[in-house]
Amino acid sequence: MSMDLKGKRIVLGLTGGVACYKAAELCRALVKHGASVQVVMTEAATHFIGAVTMQAVSGNPVYLDQWDARMANNMAHIDLTRGADAILIAPCSADFIRKLVHGAADDLLSLLCVARPRHVPLHVAPAMNVEMWDNPATQRNVTQLRADGICLFGPGRGAQACGETGMGRMLEADELVDELIASFQQKVLAGRRVMITAGPTFEPIDPVRGITNLSSGKMGYAIARAAREAGADVTLVSGPVSLPTPHGVRRIDVLTAQQMHDAVMAGVTGQHVFIGVAAVADWRVVNASDQKLKKTPDGAPPALEFAQNADILASVAATVSLSGWPYCVGFAAESEQLETYGAAKREKKGIPLLVGNIGPQTFGQDDNTIILFDEHGHVLLERADKLTLARQLVSEIGKRLEQRSLLT
Ligand code: CTP
Repeated sequence: MSMDLKGKRIVLGLTGGVACYKAAELCRALVKHGASVQVVMTEAATHFIGAVTMQAVSGNPVYLDQWDARMANNMAHIDLTRGADAILIAPCSADFIRKLVHGAADDLLSLLCVARPRHVPLHVAPAMNVEMWDNPATQRNVTQLRADGICLFGPGRGAQACGETGMGRMLEADELVDELIASFQQKVLAGRRVMITAGPTFEPIDPVRGITNLSSGKMGYAIARAAREAGADVTLVSGPVSLPTPHGVRRIDVLTAQQMHDAVMAGVTGQHVFIGVAAVADWRVVNASDQKLKKTPDGAPPALEFAQNADILASVAATVSLSGWPYCVGFAAESEQLETYGAAKREKKGIPLLVGNIGPQTFGQDDNTIILFDEHGHVLLERADKLTLARQLVSEIGKRLEQRSLLT
């Protein structure tokens, strides 16, 4: 479990909605990620979940109304927001959205939202029936909320507690935690489209066998997450891995190198950045069998014939426009002389940035050490978990895009 919210003081507001049942899970997850959580509930929320439960999972007394005598100065709306790093309303009902839009201040939660200092961000996780969400009045309010700089987390689409299906479901606790963590990251890739390949490829020999490698996809998935956190629109073209899709990332699943190549080439136009993290098989079996291969009586093994796969990164690099898009980033795993081989490989591939790691022992590990090679030389990113490195890499890419934008 990452401690990405360590030291963050979060005011978690609950309003009336059946999604309150997810709020206890959310609160627990925030605490586990290092946050200190102060829960404030509207009267309606207390019909769905008990304040005792929220107190137990947050470890702090829960506040319900502005007349609460526990605050010595009787100013809960001021005291709870000064020093807060963010306010998250989850679930946020249609009615509470209306109140936020109108600056209502007739209960503690709406009062503290109005009274929050400008620098304290307010995020809301809408939760309501699909018809309520689609209602023009709600949509008008949502547009106004966004215009006021309030950030919406979700809602999601799916089955609803009322038995109907559609938009309006509150995001799951882990998705809300990811959104909150993302909200604290620098938006160095805001407005950028980023395509990433990740994982291994699988080259069939017959319908049940194939050739693959030990890439777990962890680094590519961490980079996809970090790029999304940094504000990018992210497409992840993934070989077969058993990892969950990072929240908010568009994922295209492929099996073979050829499929990965085709998926990338079909979507690469208009991308600002391409990052090839996948461990693409260099060869495919050209005489793969349609039927399962049988052992032969004489014990002769099958005679497999190979052909070399297209280099996806090179194909993308060949499409780079005069203005330099997409900015191509390659990965290289070397077992020795990383510094010499890395610089040479960057030149050979004709790309502006190459990320070297000492592989293949990094495959499947949670930690890594990487070296970035660019036209100025190389920089070492000290050993860290893959998400930390991914965020550093994204920040380095962001810096280089910034310089590039100034030049073009
Ligand atoms: N790559 C690719 N398509 C391939 C092969 C590699 O896009 N068919 C990309 C990888 O995603 C990675 C980089 O190219 O970004 C790795 O380059 P490669 O030349 O395969 O490196 P090594 O495997 O280290 O090669 P070599 O065996 O030449 O050391």
